[in-house]
Amino acid sequence: MCGIVGYIGKASAVPVLVEGLKKLEYRGYDSAGLAVLENSHVEIIKTKGKMKVLEEKINGSLNGCRIGIGHTRWATHGRPSDINSHPHKDCSGTIAVVHNGIIENYQSLKEWLQEIGHRFVSETDTEVLPHLIEEFYNKTNDLLKAIKMTIAKIEGSYAVVVLSRDYPGEIFAARKDSPLIVGLGDGENFFASDIPAILNHTRRIYILDDGDIARISETEVDVYDSNGNKKVKEETYVEWDAEAAEKGGYDHFMLKEIHEQPEAVRKTLSGRIDAFTGKVNLKEISLTKEYLEGIRNIAIVACGTASYAGLVGKYAIEKLTRIPVMWDIASEFRYRDPLVDEKTLMIVISQSGETADTLAALREAKKKGSRVLAITNVVGSSISREADEVLYTLAGPEIAVASTKAYVTQLIAMYLLAYDIACKLGKITEGEVVQGVYALTKLSEQIKEVLKCEASIKEWAQEISRWEDVYFLGRGIDYNVAQEGQLKLKEISYIHAEALAAGEMKHGTIALIEEGTPVVALATQDFLFDKMLSNIQEVQARGARVTALTFEGNTEMEKSAERVIYIPKTLPITAPVLSVVPLQLLAYYAAVARGSDVDMPRNLAKSVTVE
Ligand code: F6R
Repeated sequence: MCGIVGYIGKASAVPVLVEGLKKLEYRGYDSAGLAVLENSHVEIIKTKGKMKVLEEKINGSLNGCRIGIGHTRWATHGRPSDINSHPHKDCSGTIAVVHNGIIENYQSLKEWLQEIGHRFVSETDTEVLPHLIEEFYNKTNDLLKAIKMTIAKIEGSYAVVVLSRDYPGEIFAARKDSPLIVGLGDGENFFASDIPAILNHTRRIYILDDGDIARISETEVDVYDSNGNKKVKEETYVEWDAEAAEKGGYDHFMLKEIHEQPEAVRKTLSGRIDAFTGKVNLKEISLTKEYLEGIRNIAIVACGTASYAGLVGKYAIEKLTRIPVMWDIASEFRYRDPLVDEKTLMIVISQSGETADTLAALREAKKKGSRVLAITNVVGSSISREADEVLYTLAGPEIAVASTKAYVTQLIAMYLLAYDIACKLGKITEGEVVQGVYALTKLSEQIKEVLKCEASIKEWAQEISRWEDVYFLGRGIDYNVAQEGQLKLKEISYIHAEALAAGEMKHGTIALIEEGTPVVALATQDFLFDKMLSNIQEVQARGARVTALTFEGNTEMEKSAERVIYIPKTLPITAPVLSVVPLQLLAYYAAVARGSDVDMPRNLAKSVTVE
């Protein structure tokens, strides 16, 4: 999604902005631009395409500027083009604006502004912002007031940063439902939509709240609430290293993040298991036995990969606690008048903590009286701040658009929660808890074992990369991992892929199986193993070439499938943490073989902050 950087200080602004925007490239974008103040006028350079095109356009110019704003755009309103790129300016060309989010009422505002004489040049919703600010600035001669009046007029979500010729020593910003932080430097200050953009300069930040308006100069930062009152902000110190957001010798962030999974799993478990009792101990959340006894159901809501982690979570919670769990894709949840109330524990899962639909679902559930527990990877994110309870996945920054280490840590968080609830409610025996927790603690080392199959998966991926359709089959939670596997393959290699509950195949999709069609079959659930063998035979009889994934020791599979990938033995319930790894590698190497932009696949964004 779009990225924002703003800078004021003693350094040359352009290199700081370019460097910051490059750190945000992983979010996905299709155009980029910046605005600086040069000799009392606003200079804008922007372009369709990647940062290197912008750098070519800048060509070392504008070196003396000490103040500027930059943006990477992921098109929502208006196709990617030079003119639709940000920054956008007002009629006088003295005000420049960058914006993340969507102005939902931009059409009516644009019509009104055009009627009173404003000239628009782009197809974007954003362009109403500089014109509104201009309109109100002409009336008040006060930029802060003009921004406040603009904010009052617009509906939707925004992180907006404003540069004006008349304020050569200040940059202004406002946010609602789209993340924005202030970076606190020494004789310099920053705005950014994400921390990595400024991490080379400072670790001290303010996280702006919804409704905040902020003003930075070289030496000062003022933050106002929506009523215009000055706020005292609490400083946050960013603990993680910029290094953690670098590639560290790997060709792509995605590959690095796949290899970071053992560590991510270890960290997510650490401190959450009581060394004496061997039980789960989630100190950071306060789900008491009394509260849990009073709930009627649990709702799990998320998008994309996080939603597939949620499906495994649903299975684990229902199996261990016998509490009914409903599962929804966040973009559907609030439009179906969901059956949640004060007797529902709502669990939202989001790596970024900023996904607009997940955030909206959280708010809907809270409105209906539910308690919301968030599983997220980003401290200080909107979802973490609005939820009643937060269980952090400690995956570290995930940069590649395709989620890998966040997914496995989301699974770990779901297992911890399931065992914790089951234990508190006395739904499982001490022995079962100890066995489950032991299985969890072994997963980190077992992922390392699975990663040893990388070379053979790479070979397999070469074959797969020549096909346009791949089918993934599984039963029970294997089906949920198959869903994650097909999404990974699709999103980065652009090969069409589909996941099916294996028993459902013969109700229609089997018609698409022909000589050579690649099928990936997951068979880790012992009690469903024979059923999977039958399903494999059904597709093989129609010409499919089946690669199966099962536990070590299940050599019987070699009689049915053409290729078998073995994963170390764990409990059936925890198998997804291991079985997903070969599928991630398959997607990765198939994408590499097809020459795709692995870390920034076309049309996708890391953090989807619009509905
Ligand atoms: C796919 C992927 C997406 C995200 C989804 C939700 O690899 O990463 O499907 O899982 O956009 O994002 P978060 O978890 O940030 O809410």
